[in-house]
Amino acid sequence: MNKVLVSLLLTLGITGMAHAAGDAEAGQGKVAVCGACHGVDGNSPAPNFPKLAGQGERYLLKQLQDIKAGSTPGAPEGVGRKVLEMTGMLDPLSDQDLEDIAAYFSSQKGSVGYADPALAKQGEKLFRGGKLDQGMPACTGCHAPNGAGNDLAGFPKLGGQHAAYTAKQLTDFREGNRTNDGDTMIMRGVAAKLSNKDIEALSSYIQGLH
Ligand code: HEC
Ligand code: HEC
Repeated sequence: MNKVLVSLLLTLGITGMAHAAGDAEAGQGKVAVCGACHGVDGNSPAPNFPKLAGQGERYLLKQLQDIKAGSTPGAPEGVGRKVLEMTGMLDPLSDQDLEDIAAYFSSQKGSVGYADPALAKQGEKLFRGGKLDQGMPACTGCHAPNGAGNDLAGFPKLGGQHAAYTAKQLTDFREGNRTNDGDTMIMRGVAAKLSNKDIEALSSYIQGLH
């Protein structure tokens, strides 16, 4: 490919991304209904409601689109991501609304919790080392050693998340109750190798990770 074309494509790519980005300030005005469960700034007070503060913008937008598709009353099984607590809630929101909301929560500072010292060691071992004998990659490869994720690649931030929420997600991926990790089935493949004890240890470690 010639150089002009490459730089043109890069410019288009970057401009395209800038357009896809939402407006955090506008988003702040659209999240009143979310605060009860997720916290006004996205640092949810309850362990089963995920923290959204500081989460990657792309990941948040994808989840909002998936939840909207899967949580419309009457949505077929296996479409998007079903969140019973959010049934119908995103239906009135436009694509622009979802982009603005993703930008808002992403711009907030995420809080960090504590790891249970009795579990943290085993959790860290799995997080950093995976289970190579079983072909399970380390979590760090995608979610980064400090749990910050990689938003351009769509890998969510995990660090500081409530352990109860993380444990539910890993169990849901393992049992096939959460299927929005795409055709590659990345997370269903990873979670298939995790025992309940592994999940408990990882979730506790992740809660204190930052
Ligand atoms: C009645 C409680 C409730 C309300 C209100 C609510 N949510 Fe949720 N939300 C949940 C629960 C519970 C989950 C996690 C479900 C699960 O376990 O998979 C969730 C998951 C999410 C996720 C996925 C987070 C992740 O890390 O993958 C996003 C994004 C989200 N909610 C955004 C919103 C937004 C935006 C609003 C307001 C328009 C909202 N929620 C309102 C309960 C709520
Ligand atoms: C090859 C890349 C890859 C590896 C390795 C990987 N993940 Fe993931 N993970 C992803 C992707 C991509 C998603 C988002 C799927 C989606 O869009 O819903 C995800 C989602 C998650 C979520 C859901 C986050 C939320 O807010 O709901 C958790 C929890 C998670 N991963 C934990 C782990 C743990 C623990 C490990 C190691 C045992 C691991 N992941 C290894 C790519 C990876």
